[in-house]
Amino acid sequence: MAAHAKTKIFYISIGFWLILGVKSYDGWSNYTLTVQTGGSVTIPCHYDKKYTQQKKYWFSEIDQTKTYTNTTDENLSVIDHPDQSLFTVTMRNLQDKHNGRYYCVVENGEQPPKNIIYEIQLKIQSAPDVSVVNSSVSGHEGGDISVQCLYSSGYQNEVKQWCRYKDQSCYKVGRTDTSQNSSVQISDDDDGGRSFTVLMTGLRLTDSGWYFCSAGEALNPVHLTVTEAEPDKEKDTSLRFCCY
Ligand SMILES: *[C@@H]1O[C@H](CO)[C@@H](O)[C@H](O)[C@H]1NC(C)=O
Ligand SMILES: *[C@@H]1O[C@H](CO)[C@@H](O)[C@H](O)[C@H]1NC(C)=O
Ligand SMILES: *[C@@H]1O[C@H](CO)[C@@H](O)[C@H](O)[C@H]1NC(C)=O
Ligand SMILES: *[C@@H]1O[C@H](CO)[C@@H](O)[C@H](O)[C@H]1NC(C)=O
Ligand SMILES: *[C@@H]1O[C@H](CO)[C@@H](O)[C@H](O)[C@H]1NC(C)=O
Repeated sequence: MAAHAKTKIFYISIGFWLILGVKSYDGWSNYTLTVQTGGSVTIPCHYDKKYTQQKKYWFSEIDQTKTYTNTTDENLSVIDHPDQSLFTVTMRNLQDKHNGRYYCVVENGEQPPKNIIYEIQLKIQSAPDVSVVNSSVSGHEGGDISVQCLYSSGYQNEVKQWCRYKDQSCYKVGRTDTSQNSSVQISDDDDGGRSFTVLMTGLRLTDSGWYFCSAGEALNPVHLTVTEAEPDKEKDTSLRFCCY
């Protein structure tokens, strides 16, 4: 009898975790973001389309605060982009006191009432373990972009990747098999193991969106904007400043 009850509880708790779950983002639902002291970072939080209407917020475990979407403060903005099924969190003037754990949360109206979509460990460092030279790049349809990702010496032997947030597709440094896409090339730079470069060629409008560079568990987000092939100047300008 007691054993039976225990089994039941076991299954209920598994079900609970599956529902609460971290679902579609298993692979790196728990990741570390490294940022330079005094710097800033923008973090995308993708959510399922069905949550477009729900309340979303950024939760800080350090001071137990919730910041709901469409908040713009000096050092923290949380903005919803329902058309892209994501909200972005921008933190500025980062200091040691910001080290710790944060969550992207969607209030899904179900039980349990909160749906954590990402858990993020923020590490503020004078020399970040992983960083990007330019966290916002843009290119034209059919053109190329390159992104340089830097890592500290302790990460030389870690797996280095370039991944798209939305579908978690990743490209690894040093992999030559054909499952990798020839429109994305990723190679270690010739600088004694300090950086690698991602080159995306033949850009398409659908390549726009959020990516990240990672080494081991540490990563840094990069936003890519692809604009139409033959830009007339006015349109180009309006696209560049459109999104907030
Ligand atoms: C998440 O990462 C932190 C820090 O690296 C670690 O202590 C914790 O155990 C991890 N949690 C899970 C569920 O993997
Ligand atoms: C933003 O951060 C800076 C640097 O830490 C601080 O001086 C300022 O008071 C902060 N602003 C707000 C509104 O908290
Ligand atoms: C936040 O702003 C976006 C874009 O302006 C808008 O579509 C959305 O409805 C706003 N969300 C809330 C909760 O106000
Ligand atoms: C980052 O990339 C954008 C768009 O490609 C460019 O306009 C900007 O000058 C770059 N910034 C740096 C610091 O290279
Ligand atoms: C490679 O990328 C192109 C353009 O993004 C895409 O159309 C194609 O399906 C990709 N191929 C593979 C094998 O992922």
